[in-house]
Amino acid sequence: MKKVLVVHYSQSGQLDNVVREFTRPLVESDDVSVTFENIKPVEDFPFPWPFLTFLDTFPESVYLDPPPIEAPGVSGDENFDLVILAYQVWFLSPALPMTAFLQHPVARQLLDNTPVVTLIACRNMWLMAQEDMKQKLTELNASLVGNVAMVDEAGSLLSFFATPLWVLTGRKGPFWGGLIPKAGVSEKAMVDSERFGRRIRDRLRVKEKVSPDMLRGLAAVRINEGLISSERTGKRAFRIWGRLLRALGPRGAWQRKPVLVFYSVFLVAMILTVVPAGMLIKRLLSPFTRKRIARQKAYFSAPSGD
Ligand SMILES: Cc1cc2nc3c(=O)[nH]c(=O)nc-3n(C[C@H](O)[C@H](O)[C@H](O)COP(=O)(O)O)c2cc1C
Repeated sequence: MKKVLVVHYSQSGQLDNVVREFTRPLVESDDVSVTFENIKPVEDFPFPWPFLTFLDTFPESVYLDPPPIEAPGVSGDENFDLVILAYQVWFLSPALPMTAFLQHPVARQLLDNTPVVTLIACRNMWLMAQEDMKQKLTELNASLVGNVAMVDEAGSLLSFFATPLWVLTGRKGPFWGGLIPKAGVSEKAMVDSERFGRRIRDRLRVKEKVSPDMLRGLAAVRINEGLISSERTGKRAFRIWGRLLRALGPRGAWQRKPVLVFYSVFLVAMILTVVPAGMLIKRLLSPFTRKRIARQKAYFSAPSGD
């Protein structure tokens, strides 16, 4: 009997739905036992999010400051053949509940020398979060054998409005007669994610087959090359402002509020000016940067392939 652990957390239920479809073939298999570990923050995050609380979460997200979580149901002594870490992205970083799990002593025991598949469901900016994840996995002596990233169906531009509206109002839309489309990962993409579970089940049955080529050829990730440098710049800016905000007090401190209000105006101004200008410059330079972009795409799509 092969043993699989699935660690997950979801606010709206979206990531849990993805997990359900993804793991269905494993759950239905007679020779695989699946354990689900739902991360429970001691004080859960609100959904829908009040605007300032939402923004106030970015410094700790970016600096991977773990919030307290309840003791996991697994003890750490179990030996799993594979661990699936299902997480969403908050501010270009793994969401805080997953950050907390990765820093819990139980995770150190569980993940040591263990193959890991990461499963992401987010708007569409996950590259920098996965860099944080890879670093944590290396520190924990775990080996990343697959990554699946599922993104919102609305596309880069429209999801930029649709996803914040969803997390701030709790309603997925569409809004304004369809001008802003429905937020979230499509039902079809969720149902189709069963193919990953099937591949994992088949690989678990063959000794030595749980390897980094495991999810190749299944369109596990799609790298949007236009977002690579935007994510890098965004993460750098989050670190600078995040350092200032953390110096002013912990999450929720009133001293942070005026800076957050100023920052939200600054952020919108940057997004409306610098981001489109950067994308235009990138497009103009693209004939000269093709090779570098191909290298970057290969790097970010590893280990599962574009
Ligand atoms: C505080 C916060 C920050 C977010 N930041 C990002 C982000 O940087 N990149 C991204 O692609 N999605 C981002 N999202 C969207 C989430 O990754 C995810 O798609 C959404 O919150 C639904 O997840 P759920 O399963 O917890 O409901 C953010 C959501 C929240 C609540």
